[in-house]
Amino acid sequence: MSGKSIIALNQLSFAWPKQAKPALQIDAFQLNAGERLFVYGPSGCGKSTLLSLLAGVVVPQAGQVEIAGQRIERLSAAQRDHFRADNIGLVFQQFNLLPYLNVLDNITLACDFSRQRAATLKTRQVSALSEAKRLLSRLLLPEALWQHSVMSLSIGQQQRVAVARALIGAPPVIIADEPTSALDHQSRDQFLQLLMAETQDSGSSLVFVSHDESLKDHFDRHLHLPSLNQATVSQGGL
Ligand SMILES: Nc1ncnc2c1ncn2[C@@H]1O[C@H](COP(=O)(O)OP(=O)(O)O)[C@@H](O)[C@H]1O
Ligand SMILES: [Mg+2]
Repeated sequence: MSGKSIIALNQLSFAWPKQAKPALQIDAFQLNAGERLFVYGPSGCGKSTLLSLLAGVVVPQAGQVEIAGQRIERLSAAQRDHFRADNIGLVFQQFNLLPYLNVLDNITLACDFSRQRAATLKTRQVSALSEAKRLLSRLLLPEALWQHSVMSLSIGQQQRVAVARALIGAPPVIIADEPTSALDHQSRDQFLQLLMAETQDSGSSLVFVSHDESLKDHFDRHLHLPSLNQATVSQGGL
């Protein structure tokens, strides 16, 4: 752990349009580079809202969201799109893969959208294609499927493609929203181990959301969002 701040939230308040009450309020929270954070709490407590704020999909009405040294609430929507492509690997509940592209193209596309990710691979002297293949091998997706449309894959297989797409080019932050909710226990544990190993190798920080508190022990840090929207921060097992 380098001790360098990767996420810093301050006096954050966010309400969705036409909502009287904020969906999320966090006084202060900070995550260091390389740390792995588990965000949990009951349905509707604001977990996905927090991820939308971290990814710059939405901006708070009040307070600061600093990611990798950048105050993202100060950026325009177009600048935030650019910032997200460079700095944040996203794995959503619905994996948002492009149905008309094959497995490999879905992954390498993340580098087409980000000069920073492409540059990281160039520094390591690997092509996007060879890195996509390496990640798929690590994630144990059979090679016979790599040229197939993502729509022909099972949910568990699509999830691995989504993870490879998030990881390629080693963005500083990986964000995953309930990625294990469709998996049985054994696949869930295996998936978590792979995600941990890969984020560790790329040096990325991980923000992982789940309503399943039993996954908590896999993580360095925990952020509990109770339904009253009062966040409490605790130190995990490190
Ligand atoms: N796009 C949206 N527009 C309006 N309200 C939303 C939107 N997304 C979430 N909300 C509301 O914000 C609150 C928090 O939701 P969410 O962040 O999705 O919770 P969680 O992910 O913890 O289940 C809920 O009351 C939800 O109805
Ligand atoms: Mg959610």
